[in-house]
Amino acid sequence: MPTILAAGGLGFIGSHTCAVLLEKGLNVLVIDSLENSVEDVFYQIKKILNFAKSSKKGNFSFRKGDVRNKEFLRKIFKEYKLSGNQIEIVIHFAGLKSVGESVLNPLSYWDVNINTTISLLTIMDEFKCNNLIFSSSATVYQLEILMNKKVTEESKLSPINPYGNTKFTIEKILSDVSQSESNKWRIANLRYFNPVGAHESGLIGENPKDKPNNLLPMLLKVINKEKKELSIFGSDWPTKDGTCVRDFVHVMDLAEAHVATLKFLLNNEPQIINLNIGTGEGTSVLELIDSFKNTNKCDLPYVFEGRRPGDVPYSVADNTKALKLLDWKPSRSIEDICKDTWRWNKANIKINEKLI
Ligand code: UD1
Repeated sequence: MPTILAAGGLGFIGSHTCAVLLEKGLNVLVIDSLENSVEDVFYQIKKILNFAKSSKKGNFSFRKGDVRNKEFLRKIFKEYKLSGNQIEIVIHFAGLKSVGESVLNPLSYWDVNINTTISLLTIMDEFKCNNLIFSSSATVYQLEILMNKKVTEESKLSPINPYGNTKFTIEKILSDVSQSESNKWRIANLRYFNPVGAHESGLIGENPKDKPNNLLPMLLKVINKEKKELSIFGSDWPTKDGTCVRDFVHVMDLAEAHVATLKFLLNNEPQIINLNIGTGEGTSVLELIDSFKNTNKCDLPYVFEGRRPGDVPYSVADNTKALKLLDWKPSRSIEDICKDTWRWNKANIKINEKLI
């Protein structure tokens, strides 16, 4: 049985994708350094699998290690090949992902994000594994393009921070590699918009190790009384209510997009493809806050502050291409996002109490 390697698979998006792949009966091996994730996530995914109704569940294993280490990778690829479970597909989630941190510490972003990619590609090629899905980001697009209209895959690319630059550069590396032997590589760059939500079981969600600065983790800090009120950055943007508009996509919809992409790649000729993964719907920061309050019947005090540097008023995916090519359609609503985030937060407080 072939194996799917999820590099960095215990992080937020990786863990949800693993759960979906395993429930579909696919075998998954995670390699993760645990730099930005915890091993507990592996056992939580196993629990999800035990509860799952599906009769054909895949095998799930985990190796702790650094994806930059070629020797370590080579050993694992060899071992899986010899056991008859050769690694045939790689989903590359491994990397650092905080925009703010990347500005302060650009070298570690270049080191980790680029070198994990080069090591993976080198060893994949050695073992004739040429199928890759890469976690890219809407960050690769040029800011002005994001002003008023939805972003297509053809919109101009021009990131403005080191994190975005590494994603953009990796896309370039992948393009060069694919062109070098275009009848060999099957590669998809999935450009995620704003991933939010959690698995409906409440067993996995956004990693507690991450330093929060994104909207939902900050909102949870207020819910958990670690912060008095939520700061909303800007009330005078040229949008429907003056706050920024984003394409919040439920992480389970995102996870399902990976499975659909995998099917697409394997059923088509070798190619490299860029796909926007978002809902195509814009929700303002205020709308999200209102929905969170109404869905979960909770208080959520907030205060307006000045605009955050680097923000854009409107970032929404034109997801026509993904809808057309993939057997995929996002199905979860903003209310589902709020409900699942709430459930995960309740469970996660308990997990953290146990760890302390
Ligand atoms: C950011 C990253 C993007 C990454 C995404 C992950 C940038 C430029 N982009 O997107 O690369 O893929 O996170 O989810 O940083 N907000 C508040 N108060 C807060 C936090 C956020 O009002 O305490 C607002 C922001 O101003 C923004 C919106 O909420 O308008 C969403 O912010 P955030 O969750 O940080 O995501 P992005 O900045 O859109």
